[in-house]
Amino acid sequence: MKNFISVNDVDNVSKLINDTLEIKKQPLKYRELGKDKTLGLFFFNPSLRTRISTHKAARNLGMDVIVLNADKDNWGLEFEEAAVMNGKKAEHIKEAAAVIGKYFDITGIRSFPTLTEKETDEDDTVIKQFMKYSGKPMISLESATLHPLQSLADMVTIYENWNFNKKPKVVLTWAPHIKPIPHSVANSFSEWANKIECEFVITHPKGLELNSLYTGNAKVVYEQDKALKDADFVYVKNWSLYNDYGKFYNGGYDWMIDKKKLELTNNAKIMHCLPVRRNVELSDYALDSENSIVIKEAENRVFAAQAVLKNILDDLNG
Ligand code: CP
Repeated sequence: MKNFISVNDVDNVSKLINDTLEIKKQPLKYRELGKDKTLGLFFFNPSLRTRISTHKAARNLGMDVIVLNADKDNWGLEFEEAAVMNGKKAEHIKEAAAVIGKYFDITGIRSFPTLTEKETDEDDTVIKQFMKYSGKPMISLESATLHPLQSLADMVTIYENWNFNKKPKVVLTWAPHIKPIPHSVANSFSEWANKIECEFVITHPKGLELNSLYTGNAKVVYEQDKALKDADFVYVKNWSLYNDYGKFYNGGYDWMIDKKKLELTNNAKIMHCLPVRRNVELSDYALDSENSIVIKEAENRVFAAQAVLKNILDDLNG
């Protein structure tokens, strides 16, 4: 693997999921693999799980890691071609990324969408320009459109909580929130769920359709109760409007997942990428129930990141 920006960077999704499960059994098995290699992690936005799990994954592989709060510690970055840099932005991405490419063997970037500039967001300008000018392998720590490290951990969590007697019914349900939220987790979950053996259903109020580039052939059901019927996994996530790009959907407050909703399912496991707003997206009952696997999901972020880094290191080491 050269880069990890989307599911399309993965040759064999099932194999990567199984590799992750193998690494989970023996996390320190490859601790010599990353010796003398350095990972740079650049966060333009806050993070708890991605920051710590990717750091830990790299350390388990013997890598050195440097983390930068890129929103605070960096010079302001200019991305425009031929910009006259007489404003606040002190450094162009061309120099910044090229320098970073000299310091690190692998780089990870977290850069959320603006939710106002649709074209820039959809182009994933920040991560793509870092990738272009650094010339080194790049891992997405959540871009403007996708969050593949989260999705790999999600698929691993589904695999290890399923007995494979039949295809599981996996439902991605929109849930309410208090502010506009990026589409990246929902887009990415959709891309990956489309690659595994499952019946994949997306449910949301009318008007909250995601970009069909990512949802592909998923079945969209507008009645949440109907979608939840017989579900084996319920993945809960808010996202803002895509059609009226980045706007807050002020409605759907009865879409919170609670005891009554869960009774419609096939004793479904409950998933969420975290952080979660209790009693807005999911009730206390749902999050505290035995069916909640949100902590296992977060734990699997370490092994997912490790499987991805191992794959890239294998490629670098020839
Ligand atoms: N799920 C996730 O990416 O968590 P953080 O934003 O805390 O990294």
